[in-house]
Amino acid sequence: MKAIVIDGCCSAESLHVSEIPRPEARSGWVLIKVFAAGLNHSEALLRTMEADADYIATPIVPGIECVGEVADAGGGKLSIGDKVIALMGGMGRSFNGSYAEYALVPAQNVFKVETTLDWVSLAALPETYFTAYGSLTEGLQLTAGDRLLVRGATSTVGQAAIQLGKALGAKVIATCRKESSFGKLRDIGADECVVDDGRISRQPLRIRPNKLLELIGPRTLRDSLLTVARPGYVCNTGVLGNVFAVAQFDPIKYIPNGVFLTGFFSNFPTQAAIDAIMRLANQNAIHPLYAKVFSLNEIVEAHTLLEQSGAGGKIILKIR
Ligand SMILES: NC(=O)c1ccc[n+]([C@@H]2O[C@H](COP(=O)([O-])OP(=O)(O)OC[C@H]3O[C@@H](n4cnc5c(N)ncnc54)[C@H](OP(=O)(O)O)[C@@H]3O)[C@@H](O)[C@H]2O)c1
Repeated sequence: MKAIVIDGCCSAESLHVSEIPRPEARSGWVLIKVFAAGLNHSEALLRTMEADADYIATPIVPGIECVGEVADAGGGKLSIGDKVIALMGGMGRSFNGSYAEYALVPAQNVFKVETTLDWVSLAALPETYFTAYGSLTEGLQLTAGDRLLVRGATSTVGQAAIQLGKALGAKVIATCRKESSFGKLRDIGADECVVDDGRISRQPLRIRPNKLLELIGPRTLRDSLLTVARPGYVCNTGVLGNVFAVAQFDPIKYIPNGVFLTGFFSNFPTQAAIDAIMRLANQNAIHPLYAKVFSLNEIVEAHTLLEQSGAGGKIILKIR
């Protein structure tokens, strides 16, 4: 089968299509005929920084998510031909991932979906919408009437969070780096748009948020904690600011009284969450957003754009 394989850290330009054996079906694992796969920062990090580390099973096919049809159910509940999405669980890091015509994935990370979405649109959904949905529901306990601020709203997860936040009945404030993004964010559903100067807590917001999805990360987290009304919730899901930890974290002084700080890690998807996302999307006519589509042969262009965060949304690899 055709696949992208990396042996260690490498440049985007060195990526190319290889012929490797199709994975052998095995009990407890689902062999997926891959139609499309979403690209994620995690794969740019893998290629540029992590692929030489012991915990990455090189040579490896990258890719932490895909959509496709079951080619072999590995003795589990699924049937050949079922439409599925798969994500996480070590895909593309501990075992071969989704930049390939077939992917073999542990059954617990493969989810049946019933949808009329085309493959490319469906491929925009798994990791991005699961992350946004989990952050809003499990992280922020979002309910109708809440006032949600999405910090880093032009990111792919941010855009999905706006759509899902609106569908869950919240008012949505979107923050971004440039005023020129306001039109796009409003089109997605944002009620208010604000340029993020790093001090949102000092800005006179028309709508005062009580829930805040932090996608910039520790760089702006303290300001986010000061931005929410009390009681208020902040969920740190992203690290777009490239600061990965809070130095000398003193919870007593760092977290204001009456503010609840949590995080979300997309490593534990469930069929219940995927079903809920599909239902919410169907009921609210949410079409998964994507920005660019590339073929496997265009992997250099796709990964160059991914590394530069230049797509303005999700990048999809169309495999078939
Ligand atoms: N916790 C988890 O399990 C999980 C899962 C998935 C993703 N994530 C994280 O969530 C974040 C978003 O991921 P993504 O794939 O959605 O990212 P993405 O689509 O690649 O987002 C890139 C865009 O974010 C905006 N951005 C970048 N740096 C920014 C900054 N300092 N301040 C404000 N905006 C900034 C830029 O938009 P403009 O050019 O328009 O400003 C940029 O084009 C990432 O940090 C990712 O690692 C976490």
